[in-house]
Amino acid sequence: MTQHVVISDASGVLRIRINRPEKKNALTRKMYQTLAEAIERSDVDPAIRVITISGTGDAFTSGNDLVDFLDSQSPEADRSTMRFLAAISRACKPLLAGVNGLAVGIGVTMLLHCDLVYAAEEATFQLPFVNLGLVPEAASSLLLPRLIGHHRAAELFFFGNKFDAQAAHRMGLVNAVKSRSSLEAVLDELAAGLAAKPPAALQITKKLLKGAAFDAAVSAQLDEEQTHFERQLRSPEAREAMEAFLQKRTPDFSRIS
Ligand code: COA
Repeated sequence: MTQHVVISDASGVLRIRINRPEKKNALTRKMYQTLAEAIERSDVDPAIRVITISGTGDAFTSGNDLVDFLDSQSPEADRSTMRFLAAISRACKPLLAGVNGLAVGIGVTMLLHCDLVYAAEEATFQLPFVNLGLVPEAASSLLLPRLIGHHRAAELFFFGNKFDAQAAHRMGLVNAVKSRSSLEAVLDELAAGLAAKPPAALQITKKLLKGAAFDAAVSAQLDEEQTHFERQLRSPEAREAMEAFLQKRTPDFSRIS
């Protein structure tokens, strides 16, 4: 059976590759669980100094699997996503992302928890939560305006339009844009460089950059977003948006009160 998340570790670097290219690397509950376990393991394994995350093919990830979203009838169903978000937001080791292609929803919001983000020239970014009848998650309603300002964050969340790697770079969401063919090598080289640094100094620096007070604010925002997200996920507007996507038609919100 194909492994939808491929994890390997060598020379102090834990490499995570999202590997479901036939579905644009959409994340299922099982995949969130595997991702969470890998990050949690890295926190307690002193041999792991750095984590990299990237995707297979032309996608980083198209976000949460919409079939899973439609099946989400109980809050318990969303537990694996919350476990992943808790893990990535509290990760002790530096996290490097290589956005090799399209990044949608949590494919973008997870980047706000990474320390360094590199994107392929072809990468695109999209936050379609509102269009899907949902609300921002991963504390992105706090982290994105902090990074790019309220007006630009509102534009990205309200309209949900796609933006390219250069725009993401200008906003400060990515450190640098690279050719797709060189991205993996760039990521490996940077990760190897960090893995060779004094580990305590590096990890404490990461912790200081985030700050304890800010960590608490992120955690509170994750909880508040989750309350709204769960309610919206079961709303008629979200059902209409997601069914329309899977049926390859335009959603119709005109009859929703
Ligand atoms: N959940 C479930 N299936 C998904 C998916 C997702 N998030 N993203 C893509 N897929 C599936 C498509 O349904 C399609 O399946 P099929 O071959 O069985 O029809 C396959 O992956 C390929 O996607 P397709 O839409 O044909 O590729 P594209 O290049 O035309 O478009 C996207 C790519 C990502 C722009 C488009 O698939 C999309 O908008 N996906 C939904 C993204 C989304 O809303 N994510 C949730 C964010 S909260």
